[in-house]
Amino acid sequence: MIDLCIKNCKILSEPSSCSINIDQGKIIDITKTPLKAEKTINANNNVVLPGLIDIHVHFRDPGLTYKEDFKTGSQAAANGGFTTVMDMPNTIPPTNTTKAFQDKLNIAKQKSIIDFGLHSGVENLKEAKKIARLKPASFKLFMDTIDGGFMQEAFKTISNISVSEREKCDESEENNETLRPMITLHAENKDLVNHCTEQMKSKGENIPGNYAKARPAVAEEVAVAQALALAYHHNTKIHFCHVSTKKSLELISNAKTFMKNISSEITPQHLFLDDSTFEKYGNLAKTNPPLRKYAEKISLEDLKQIDIIGTDHAPHSLEEKEKNVWEASPGIPNLEVVLKLLLTQYNNGKIGLKSIERLLCENPARIFNLNTKGFIVKGMDADLVIIDLKEEGSIKSDEFYTKAHYTPFEGVKYQGAPIMTISRGKIVMDQGKIYENQGQYIYP
Ligand code: DOR
Ligand code: ZN
Ligand code: ZN
Repeated sequence: MIDLCIKNCKILSEPSSCSINIDQGKIIDITKTPLKAEKTINANNNVVLPGLIDIHVHFRDPGLTYKEDFKTGSQAAANGGFTTVMDMPNTIPPTNTTKAFQDKLNIAKQKSIIDFGLHSGVENLKEAKKIARLKPASFKLFMDTIDGGFMQEAFKTISNISVSEREKCDESEENNETLRPMITLHAENKDLVNHCTEQMKSKGENIPGNYAKARPAVAEEVAVAQALALAYHHNTKIHFCHVSTKKSLELISNAKTFMKNISSEITPQHLFLDDSTFEKYGNLAKTNPPLRKYAEKISLEDLKQIDIIGTDHAPHSLEEKEKNVWEASPGIPNLEVVLKLLLTQYNNGKIGLKSIERLLCENPARIFNLNTKGFIVKGMDADLVIIDLKEEGSIKSDEFYTKAHYTPFEGVKYQGAPIMTISRGKIVMDQGKIYENQGQYIYP
């Protein structure tokens, strides 16, 4: 007898209702009639998607666990329908040495209730090769904090690691390509950001809306162009985090016509909000890159050019968010809102479920080399999210599992929500209740 059968599932690849049969954490078959199992769950003809994959979260563990830790962060993820997360390196200490990387891996293994990967920092380029052997999801470059010279060094060093790692391996050329470490980018030009910020500060107008002017669209667009040029020169696989302007997207789309291995991501805030949000929510809407003017921003119609929706789940304490515009911490906790917001747009006829699956399951798995995730297919990990397309409510941050109980989406009405999350065949969320589980490292 198998471990688990989920019957009456609507999956996007099958015309009619089916059963997903699971044993030892894997999907062993998809059948018309349910197989005999230790436990059977009735999905009641609800839509079932592959568990969502978020390649961009900040779980603050170690060092900043008053904001979030791997337990609460992964619980928030499970509550939002996610079964895999990849954590960013800006913790204390930063994840930029083999020791820090190993230490964070141990923390995540103990605390995470869903599967996880870790991004590496780049500040210790001398260690980059050793870190690469621990299989970071990527090397993350915060262009807003590093100089052009160091950028060049980082691209050169990381691109060379990929070559030497490839030479060492004796599998086929094509498979080896996937071993190349990639670079993920926070693309905002440091000099432009610093210059414009000083200018705005010197005017003495401390209204939150001025934050967007202190980090203008052009600072992002210049950084995107810089990174594309370096990736072209070094033949580097790159992923642009939180692209926020139409022009940045245009630059990336143009580059894709003659370059391989470039991908782009959008966050819920850059998709759904614009700079008018500052008026209502103040610094709760403060994020880097900042929210853009309505005319500059990317809209739902542009999503076909985007590869991934990443939440950039970036929790801070409320005190940190309530400081003045220049001192308040940038970042928004998004894991528990993104799917509800997208399903609402589905119900409004603005986005297809297939697009949601492409942006939050299939592409993250493909781009970040997760061969057993992102698809509901025989042989894959049994990572699933059951969705009730009819469930209605409004976003309430006091119901979040994240430690950050605020959101600029507070009170937004939604229709459609995740009702059950399953990680490798184990229920981790059922109707908003979270269950214990031991998440695994995705690049063992
Ligand atoms: O808004 C942001 N918050 N942007 C970043 O790049 C960092 C992040 C954080 O870690 O809080
Ligand atoms: Zn960033
Ligand atoms: Zn981030």
